[in-house]
Amino acid sequence: MPTVADIRAADETITMLTAYDAPTAELVEGAGIDVILVGDSMGNAVLGHDSTLPVTVEEVASRTAAVSRVTDEALVVADMPFLSFGVDEADSIENAGRMIKQAGADAIKLESGPHTVSLTERLVELGIPVMAHLGLTPQRVNQLGGYGRQGTTKDTAMEIADLARAHEEAGAFSLVLEHVPANLAAQVTDELSIPTIGIGAGSDCDGQVLVITDVIGLGEWSPPFSKQFGDVRSEISSAVSAYKEAVEGGEFPAEEHSETVEEVKDVY
Ligand code: KIV
Ligand code: NA
Repeated sequence: MPTVADIRAADETITMLTAYDAPTAELVEGAGIDVILVGDSMGNAVLGHDSTLPVTVEEVASRTAAVSRVTDEALVVADMPFLSFGVDEADSIENAGRMIKQAGADAIKLESGPHTVSLTERLVELGIPVMAHLGLTPQRVNQLGGYGRQGTTKDTAMEIADLARAHEEAGAFSLVLEHVPANLAAQVTDELSIPTIGIGAGSDCDGQVLVITDVIGLGEWSPPFSKQFGDVRSEISSAVSAYKEAVEGGEFPAEEHSETVEEVKDVY
């Protein structure tokens, strides 16, 4: 099974996908994906929110536990929700620790910034592996005014480049780069010794990550930098319609789905 040390030293392209439940995690692991991220993207992807901001520690912990129970090959990374880290150090450590101790995650991810350098160092010192995340950090949507590409000016690109270095030095074992110019991601990937894992960051990163509901085509919308590799939406629709028709038409349940027991006749 890949450990954080394996991921840190990986020669081959790292594959990462999100999963938020046991059956999906089993399929993702079965396909040989290296890292399963229990992302706070669950807010949009499966919890019906229109951002990641309302997602709670309880929700991520519960879903991380489900994913951890049924996997042993993939590295399981729990995403730290908005304001569950970076406000108070003791609370940050407690929340991150909960993902490891109770939920069974192998590592945590946090949306990084100048405020997470020393926290990353502290968590690593305590034995909690940290995946950093720079570029578009969706928990800052209200600050950013949307989900646009980041690091598109020299100044902001240099800020991301510097923070990438700072988080490597703080001990992060890998770095997600989200929605940044491909040539910025390529430079960061060259500069760092830890692997970069891109989403909307071009093909020069050391690995790629996407949101599972996009990949399987479950969600109605997916971002332009993502790709639907399947059409689970239409599979679900046709199965549900077939069920409804069979029930209404009296074809389900059929004889093979029912059981008659002699002893229980004449209960009235
Ligand atoms: O929550 C998530 O799915 C993520 C990935 C897009 C990196 O943070
Ligand atoms: Na996330």
